[in-house]
Amino acid sequence: MTATAAAPVTTGATSVASGTTSGVDEGVGRTALMVAAARAIESRRPDALARDPLAEHFVRAARASTHWPVHPRDVPKGPDGADDPLWGRLGGYFALRTRALDDHLLRAARLGARQVVLLGAGLDARAHRLDWPPGTTVFELDRARVLAFKQQVLDRIGARPTARRVPVACDLRLDWAGALAAAGFCPGEPTAWLAEGLLLYLPAAAESRLAATVDRLSAAGSSLAYEVKLGMEPAVVRRNPVYLAARDRLGIDLLVLFDDEPRPDTAADLAARGWSTVTHTPFEFTRHYGRGPRPEPDDALAANRWTFASRGPLLGGPLSGGPLPGPRRREGGPGPV
Ligand SMILES: C[S@@+](CC[C@H](N)C(=O)[O-])C[C@H]1O[C@@H](n2cnc3c(N)ncnc32)[C@H](O)[C@@H]1O
Repeated sequence: MTATAAAPVTTGATSVASGTTSGVDEGVGRTALMVAAARAIESRRPDALARDPLAEHFVRAARASTHWPVHPRDVPKGPDGADDPLWGRLGGYFALRTRALDDHLLRAARLGARQVVLLGAGLDARAHRLDWPPGTTVFELDRARVLAFKQQVLDRIGARPTARRVPVACDLRLDWAGALAAAGFCPGEPTAWLAEGLLLYLPAAAESRLAATVDRLSAAGSSLAYEVKLGMEPAVVRRNPVYLAARDRLGIDLLVLFDDEPRPDTAADLAARGWSTVTHTPFEFTRHYGRGPRPEPDDALAANRWTFASRGPLLGGPLSGGPLPGPRRREGGPGPV
């Protein structure tokens, strides 16, 4: 089963790297390049969970990532032929996450959402590569310099979106609702919200404010999918090769970038506001799609959770068969993989 994807935009990535750094070369912006590189590599696999023909262009265009791999043949093997911790295991996690959230958003669109809001959109190319129903608008919220870099690449390759795409420059730690309204967002319409790879970097209070804002702007039939970590990981997990490889090979110290405050229970918060939620481990999706990371000792992915929330009856995630009656909250267990 593959998500419906728009035709590849073009081939042959070109570089827009210049003497100055862009919003993706440094800090948390660089993590957007890491996820894009994982999607580029995944796209070239014969059994790809998701295909993103734009990802390679973003990776090649930024100074920080010009030489990062964008093809499986460029991925080194780990010790004893094991998967490379970076592009094998972490990259496989990003590919799985991409596919699960593709399926979720397309399902929300099929059920009537015509507004999609990508919170911390980074180099997400869903506005270009998914087969949206006519009349869909995809709002992309991120910092101005990240969106400027993205636009520069999109313009250079002449990429055409498959939905109306509206970039919205903002700082998601602050009040971003005004910027979204000014961009044409309509709170009376059902919306599919997504916070993929974002909340881990936000202070706890900003995450709680974001959930409250999403709640305030969500009409009945809206949904919110997001990724969190349950909390600070113990030292033995912080030494996991996934973290060390990202730091040493990409210059991305995830453990420094992650916010280290105790995390809020956003699923409980949403449930108290009348939302229905279901939370899964990534490993459940590995089992569902037949590929992806499996649990390992001192696992850097063990604390990751993906929550699917809906305003009103449970829309659920890709693991749900269909809408269920009545508000409810459900915890998905890890289950055997
Ligand atoms: C790991 S990337 C994920 C990008 C995208 N969601 C994906 O999965 O490909 C994190 C993104 O969050 C954005 N971000 C982090 N903190 C932010 C903030 N305070 N305001 C706006 N964007 C932010 C970064 O600029 C970056 O693009």
